[in-house]
Amino acid sequence: MMNRTTFFDHHAADWDADRPPEEDARLDRVITLTDVHLGYAVLDVGTGTGVLVPHLVRAVGPSGRIVAIDLSPEMLAAARAKGFPSSVTFLEADVHDLPLPDAQFDRVICNAALPHFEDRLRSMREMVRVLRAGGLLVISHPIGREAVNRRHREAGGPVEGDRVPAPETMMALLQEAGLTEMQVVDEPEFYLSRGRKRQPEDGCGRVSSPIDLPRS
Ligand SMILES: C[S@@+](CC[C@H](N)C(=O)[O-])C[C@H]1O[C@@H](n2cnc3c(N)ncnc32)[C@H](O)[C@@H]1O
Repeated sequence: MMNRTTFFDHHAADWDADRPPEEDARLDRVITLTDVHLGYAVLDVGTGTGVLVPHLVRAVGPSGRIVAIDLSPEMLAAARAKGFPSSVTFLEADVHDLPLPDAQFDRVICNAALPHFEDRLRSMREMVRVLRAGGLLVISHPIGREAVNRRHREAGGPVEGDRVPAPETMMALLQEAGLTEMQVVDEPEFYLSRGRKRQPEDGCGRVSSPIDLPRS
């Protein structure tokens, strides 16, 4: 029987062809609300074919670093084939058990992926763990909550029951994961939630040291 990883492996080849034309403008809005700056270190969780990566590359510039993780080898192969600059590292990894040290990233962003995670709270705690104090975790769905839920119902199979959390559920999850300054934007065609990691007294540091990464 197909599980989520084989489902995404199966869809990797045609993933980009199915992207709606307005998605890039919405991803730019995601980047703006993620408040990404030159030199930042950013983790892209559930990167898929890397649709967010060109936006992140522009935002962090050559002095920034992007680590993009996914569980699906085929999705990662499609992303790697795009030939991104050496500031981008792709890793095959499970968000529930990230092979990354604590407090490495200025921003952690999870675009269009959270509903597929088996244990949302555990995955969010892992994403918070690798975030620097004062950094932002962003969970986004640029086509909006209802559209995502409808797509999953129609797709059937292992993703059929995967749902974007309602705003009140997301606020509770962000808080339980250890974040503060939580916000949820829940518009008909755009969803984004974010929260800041506590203990910001020394601010959200710009990248000044290399990220300690396992080999990809
Ligand atoms: C709907 S796709 C979105 C991909 C991409 N972020 C985008 O916006 O097009 C969700 C991705 O999450 C990945 N994924 C699902 N469960 C995961 C997990 N436990 N850890 C890491 N990635 C996971 C899938 O393999 C898939 O590539």
